[in-house]
Order: sequence, then C-alpha cells, then structure tokens
Amino acid sequence: MSSPDTVLIFDTTLRDGEQSPGATLNVEEKLEIARQLSRLGVDICEAGFPIASPGDFEAVRRIAEEVGPLTEGRKDGQPMVIAGLARANETDISRAYEAVRSAPRHRIHTFLATSDIHLKHKLRIDREECVDQVIRAVSYARSLCDDVEFSPEDAGRSDPEFLVQVLGEAIKAGATTLNIPDTVGYTTPDEFGWLIDYLITNTPGSDRVIWSVHCHNDLGLATANTLAGIKAGARQAEVTLNGIGERAGNTALEEVVMALTTRPQNFNLQTNIDTTQIVRTSHMVSTYTGMVIQANKAIVGANAFAHEAGIHQDGMLKNHQTYEIMRPETVGLNTSKLVLGKHSGRHAFRVRLKEMGYDNMDDEDVAAAFKRFKAIADKKKAVTDADIEAIIADEIYQPPVIWQLDHIQVSCGDHSIPTASVVMTGPDGETYSDAALGSGPVDAVYQAINRIIGVTNRLTEFSINAVTEGLDAVAEATIRIHPSDETEYTLNPQTDKPVYRTYSGHGASTDIVVASARAYLSALNKMLAERDKAPGRATPATV
Ligand code: KIV
Ligand code: ZN
Repeated sequence: MSSPDTVLIFDTTLRDGEQSPGATLNVEEKLEIARQLSRLGVDICEAGFPIASPGDFEAVRRIAEEVGPLTEGRKDGQPMVIAGLARANETDISRAYEAVRSAPRHRIHTFLATSDIHLKHKLRIDREECVDQVIRAVSYARSLCDDVEFSPEDAGRSDPEFLVQVLGEAIKAGATTLNIPDTVGYTTPDEFGWLIDYLITNTPGSDRVIWSVHCHNDLGLATANTLAGIKAGARQAEVTLNGIGERAGNTALEEVVMALTTRPQNFNLQTNIDTTQIVRTSHMVSTYTGMVIQANKAIVGANAFAHEAGIHQDGMLKNHQTYEIMRPETVGLNTSKLVLGKHSGRHAFRVRLKEMGYDNMDDEDVAAAFKRFKAIADKKKAVTDADIEAIIADEIYQPPVIWQLDHIQVSCGDHSIPTASVVMTGPDGETYSDAALGSGPVDAVYQAINRIIGVTNRLTEFSINAVTEGLDAVAEATIRIHPSDETEYTLNPQTDKPVYRTYSGHGASTDIVVASARAYLSALNKMLAERDKAPGRATPATV
C-alpha cells in the first residue's frame, strides 16, 4: 500500500472535522461524503468515533459496509481503509472494531494523552500508568485487527524522551502506524519537524511503522507543521477538507496535497489523491456541514483563482504563469463559461452531469435536477457548471422532505414593514399558509414558516453567496439552526464533553429570499427527520 515516496492521506473530516462547533452531519450525509472521499483517493478514512453515540456507531458501521469495498476511480485500485477512533480502553476499542470490521480494509485508531498537563489534570495518572495503559490498549486492539494506529495525544507539548518510551512500547505491542498530534496547535514548523525527526531516529523499531502527523491550526501553522513533519520522514498526513475541525481546525487536505503536487522539486513525494476531485469534495463538505469557506481560503476559496488587479489581469492574459502557480483545472475548477442554455434538452443536461462526474444519479434525481435547471435557464442566459453544482446540492443533497415549500411572496422596501406570506405542504399532504412581519424579507419568511411548522429553534449562522458572477447569478444560502430543547449530543473524545446537535441547511435560487427559505426548510426538515427517528421524543408543537 505504501511506498517510501508516497504520503498516505488520512482524512478525518468525518471525525475530527465533525467536531467543529455546529458541523454535525447525519448518517446519509456522512455516507455521501465518504463515497466522495473514496473517489478523491483518500487512503484512510476516519469515519467517526463509534463509542460517542449510537448515531456515530451506525454511521461508521454503514460506511465500513457500503463504502469500504469501493474501488472505482481510485488510482491504486485499492479500497480505502476505514478507521474508527477509540480511547485507550477495551470498551472503546471493541466498539470501534465492531463498527469497522466489515470493511475489507479496516483500522483501529486508539489514543492516550502523554503530556504532563494532560496526565496530571485530565487523566490523573502518572507516566508509568500511561505506558501500561498504552501497552494494554494497543495489544488488545492488535488482537482484533492487523492495522492499529496509536496517537499520543498532545504530543506537541509532551516530553520527547517520554514519547520515545511510550512509542517504543506501542511498537512492541503491535502498533503499525504512530501518529504524532499537535493537539492544541502549539508548535512551530522547525520544532515540529525536529520532533518527528527525533522520534523516528530514537524510537526502537521505528522502521517497522508508518509515521504520521496530525496538526491543529490554532496559530495558523497546521499546514506548515504537517509539511515539516513530512520532510522529517512522516509518510501519513492526517487532514480534513477545508481544514474544518475543533477550534481553529485541522490541517487542510487540499493545502497539503497541492503543496506536494505543485512543489515536486521541494518534496519529491506523491499522494494517491485525484486532485481534480478536490473542489467538488470541498463544496460537498461545506454544503453538508454548513461551514462556509472563506473567499480567500487557499485552493478552494472563491477567490483562490480570481485575478482582480489590472496588472495581474494583464499578466494573466499574456501568460497565465505570471500570476498562477497552479491551473484551476488541476483542482477540478471548471473554467468553461457557457455550458447550457434554455434550449438545452434533457439529454445534453445528462451528458453534462456525467462529464462533471455525477454518473451515479438515478432517473428520478436527474429529472428533478433537470426541472430546476430549466427554471434557472429561463431566468439566466448561461447556466454554468457552478450553477449546476448548486442545483445538484440544492435538489439532490437534501434531507427527506417533510415540509415542502410551495410559494413565497414578500413585500419590502425602505418605507414598508417587510411582510411575507408562505404556502407549504405538510407531512399529511395538506396545504398550509400563513403570513408574518419581520425585520427584513428573510426574517419575515422565516417567521411565517415558523408560524406554520411550529418548531422552536435558534438560528446560529446564515450566509448567502453568489455562485457565479453577474446580477442574474444563482445564490446559495447556508444556515445553521440549533433546537431549543437540546437533548441530542455526541461525545468529544478529547474533552469527554457533549457536543450538541446543530442542523445545517442549504438552498439555491436566482432569488435570494427563495434560496434562504429553501435553506431554512432544509435545516428544519433535517431536524424533524432526526427527531422522528429518536425513540420517545415528542414532536414539538408550539412556536
Ligand atoms: O488532535 C488530536 O490529538 C486528535 C487525536 C485523537 C489524534 O484528534
Ligand atoms: Zn485532532
């Protein structure tokens, strides 16, 4: 699986990434992202933390079963390794193993903190007990599974000599990958590179394992630290799409992969990633988690390949190499402008979908997407790939429809109170309508929807972006809501504290109020669907 000049990409979007405040995903979304990670060429997919909640267990189990065997489009022809996280105890490890075991290639990833701060204040054990626990945990994991990864949590602030001792014992106990986390994003590139070099040089048996790095971005150094670790000999990088994760996030997959790809003379290393899938995967993760990508984000931000300044544009027209170090196509950004128009038929639309990589859509989904395409093509002369991506995200990547939006009408302006009337179809098939006032048109629509559905929630994030240029652009709205009565949570493996459920929604339309309403309803439907699944929970009734 691995060669000395290949850096394995271990994606933890579905585990560490999902720990971002408010990034919670449901099982279907996790499965869809895992399928896309497989297409992207990720070597190891950390699908979750199975002990955290029954929902996490089920998601990991289904990913192992349904995505674990997939090989289509993968460079090395091998399926992804599906990993499950476990604290260093038998209960967690057994649960992780149960969840991943049906994947043809599976891994148990167990961890225990090694820094004095964590040993003293969090775990309340001494170094000796820490070593014993690591030996017991890794041996037990190895008795179940041939592929065992061990992480000394907070390694970045641990005593390097103690790390050598712990990691040496982990190797003896059967660990096959040793991952060095800078859990709190404290180190700088020279320190972290030094640490990896020191551990590889001094740990007995170090040549029998793959060394891995896992960095957090608290000082904005996650990618630099990861690359320093790779230069020092690490051959696995733990990353997330868009760098999402706890606090300031994890190392961004796209940044590490594109640094290795764009600067071969500097690293002389390769990955198994199909870089043309990067933008699609990034977009999917952003849509499902509701975590909007900042415009100037490296590689995947809306401005990453935009050239605004006159001098730059002039240079680009003369030769793109003047201001461009990577071609946008390399990361899957399609630069073709006019794709389809209002006279394009279903066949042309389907062909374009296939060309864009949407080759597994069934007839029903294609028909629904085509209907939306026609509606947009009526309002907009040129329908681009970006518009089609937005349509697909809005139409297909949606939770089950419980409440459906039929019509919206809004009146607003600088001399009137924004007023909205909304018509919807309920879960019983009946038509409901209501009207409300708001502080703005979007607020008025949300109030009217609230009056009909009657679910209390708090809006924690709202953003709206144009997916293409021009006044007729399709707008994509993303929102996150938080139920008012919060009983659903998963466990944060590092702090043992509950992470409360939030629901994200997204919607697209050439009308920003309609896009916002669709996004709100998408989040509400997701929340209602999850609640219906939860046994013994009453459906909330009042506004
Ligand atoms: O940041 C960290 O230490 C982790 C470990 C569980 C690997 O995410
Ligand atoms: Zn982490």
